[in-house]
Amino acid sequence: MEFLSIAERFGFRPDALERIRAAVSNSDLQGNGPNLARYATTFPKPSKGDQFEALVRGKFGVKHALGVSSGTAALHAAMVAAGAAPGKDVICPAIGFLATSMAAALAGATPVFCDVDESLQMDPSKLEALITSRTIAVAPTHYGGAVCDLGPVLAVARRHGLLVIEDCAQATGATYRGRTVGTLGDIGCFSISAYKIIGGGEAGLLITNDPRLFDRACQVAEAGGLWRPDRFGPERYPGELFPGTNYRLSELEAAVDLVQLGKLDATVGRFRAVHRRIRSQQRAFREFRWQKSNDPEGDIGCLLRLFPQTLELGKKAAEALRAEGIGAGFLGPDARSDWHLYSDMFPLFAQHAERCRPDLCPVAVDLYNRGISIWLDSWYSPADCDAIAEGVHKVLSAYGTPITR
Ligand SMILES: Cc1ncc(COP(=O)(O)O)c(C=O)c1O
Repeated sequence: MEFLSIAERFGFRPDALERIRAAVSNSDLQGNGPNLARYATTFPKPSKGDQFEALVRGKFGVKHALGVSSGTAALHAAMVAAGAAPGKDVICPAIGFLATSMAAALAGATPVFCDVDESLQMDPSKLEALITSRTIAVAPTHYGGAVCDLGPVLAVARRHGLLVIEDCAQATGATYRGRTVGTLGDIGCFSISAYKIIGGGEAGLLITNDPRLFDRACQVAEAGGLWRPDRFGPERYPGELFPGTNYRLSELEAAVDLVQLGKLDATVGRFRAVHRRIRSQQRAFREFRWQKSNDPEGDIGCLLRLFPQTLELGKKAAEALRAEGIGAGFLGPDARSDWHLYSDMFPLFAQHAERCRPDLCPVAVDLYNRGISIWLDSWYSPADCDAIAEGVHKVLSAYGTPITR
């Protein structure tokens, strides 16, 4: 009940509160009263976690879904499942979040960074040159609510027999050529933390159509054996069992995520409408380029990003946008380091500093520092959108030269 009062104060909606109440009152493990574990042997079935995974399978049209404790946990399980280990390489984008490359490193593999293009996503034309006999997988991130150009990434990966692990933590619900991201590669990983497209508290999700990859991911994430039909039985096939961890999803979290996932389409729809309304009112200027989109229909559109020609112009334009009341972020060369750019991923430095050298992915370093970012809210009204559109247009007109065709 204490949790419920906190959840209420933090603005959980009535339907989420109702699910939490049900989870709390249902759980009874070995006569010890309410608990929040997803302990499949004694839990009333189906558990909230089971229900969440069933909803995911239906919604994403995949054979297997595994709810876990975080997006990082999903990525770690995916990396180990894919065979990441000492002596192996995993190719990650130079812009994304540390969690992807760190998961590969945690599994003992070496993260190898691939530069980006003007979409800020992995540049497929740079991928092939990074592949060696050590490479086992490519792990593109769909960064900032936008989608990576998966078609050519998949083509290169397939040509070389590599697995593809999609990091969809920042793009849950986005689509690429009409298909939901996370379902195009071999494994899709998602974060459902409070800061993501749909968020509960702390949770993650892994999806795949491959039964062996799924078993391996389960063994990493739930090495206590609860996931197995005969929990403590011997190996059913060579390689089924190996040391793992406990990344189980809690029942409380699953109860909330069930509700949150149900809101995904509406949330993505609102973001797209907001983004479209603002972008459609913009004109082209010689000194500013909009972030390239690999699929304008498929992006979520939670972010507007443009690249001014110079850092100096970027600084001035971002200040002018802020003076218009628009929350514009601009990093510039002196920015505090941030773990979305590979050359700032300090936790990797002890073992992989050579891979994080700024000269290896110059496009990423340049664009990351030069970009102006405006985060959008899916609840903006049409009037809010028009005010932002007008403010952006005013600033770009003041600092740029219109391109007239
Ligand atoms: C691209 C990306 N991957 C993975 C993660 C990790 O997710 P979590 O915070 O749920 O561990 C994040 C979270 O910030 C992310 O942005």
